[in-house]
Amino acid sequence: MFQVKPVAAERLPELLRRMPKAELHIHIEGSLEPELIFALAQRNGVPLAYASVEALRSAYAFSNLQSFLDIYYAGASVLLKEQDFYDMAQAYLRKAAQDNVVHAELFFDPQTHTARGVSMATVINGLHRACVDAQAELGVSASLILCFLRHLSEEDAFATLEEALPFRDKFIGIGLDSGEVGNPPEKFARVFARCRELGFHLVAHAGEEGPPAYVWTALDVLKVERIDHGVQSIQDAALMRRLAQDSIPLTVCPLSNLKLRVFPDLASHNLGQLLAAGLVATVNSDDPAYFGGYVNENFTQTFAATGLTAQHAYTLARNSFEASFIDDAAKRRHIDRLNESFETFA
Ligand code: ADE
Ligand code: ZN
Repeated sequence: MFQVKPVAAERLPELLRRMPKAELHIHIEGSLEPELIFALAQRNGVPLAYASVEALRSAYAFSNLQSFLDIYYAGASVLLKEQDFYDMAQAYLRKAAQDNVVHAELFFDPQTHTARGVSMATVINGLHRACVDAQAELGVSASLILCFLRHLSEEDAFATLEEALPFRDKFIGIGLDSGEVGNPPEKFARVFARCRELGFHLVAHAGEEGPPAYVWTALDVLKVERIDHGVQSIQDAALMRRLAQDSIPLTVCPLSNLKLRVFPDLASHNLGQLLAAGLVATVNSDDPAYFGGYVNENFTQTFAATGLTAQHAYTLARNSFEASFIDDAAKRRHIDRLNESFETFA
């Protein structure tokens, strides 16, 4: 096992920023900064309910997941053309590269766009082109995960899958997001079974606001490989043992949990407890334009508030590669670079 040297508390932020990492839980529509929302609204002639960038940003005060989703879906209404999707993803990937993200798996919500008359081709081709260009421009590998909106029906998810299948070589997996409580994973049992037959990777949001029971059914009914959030799993000791035994990764998003009031403050966040229980937790930004920070901000603020150490930093970065959907050779290469970055940090 790799030996991590102790690092003084005041040097930790630098270590966290510099270490290479993967980001596995980022909704690309949640990376749309107010400035880009206004620029795209103007370019496309879309009216906005806010007079200025500042007015829009000041509306970002949320009481729970639904209060955020309402404003997040409204923000996405400025996306109409393939170039808009490209510009959004390119802006995120450039920010990610600055945070030393070397691999990213991007969620997108096609139903948010197809419901407004935007074609599946427009959405996927724009996002995919930005992922391809990121490798050449930034040295960042990026892939796409199509999410079904769980507040809509399973029938709607099936129709979305059909529409997306002509582009199946442009996304690697299927996820499940939007309002969790009242929309349990098992609502999507048949469509996830179909996606599994088709060979997609499977993930689902579960245990963000919803109960541990939703994490169980995401695993046992949907047969997902990773759980997005999953922080409520801590309430169920048997579930914690299952997640540890089967090395099921949790893509944890501390600033999201803070802004959506899943935890009252960052000091109360359970990331340290999840790691202590042997879970494969990772740190991610979820919707960075709305929650006050990209992945490095999630790392530095959480470590400052909870007293996590360099050893935790290494584990979290290593977990991000182990939990990713890249091949074993690429994982090995990234972990070798991670080890080097810790060895040479002085
Ligand atoms: N869509 C975007 N962000 C989300 C979150 N945190 N939970 C569920 N759905 C989302
Ligand atoms: Zn999310």
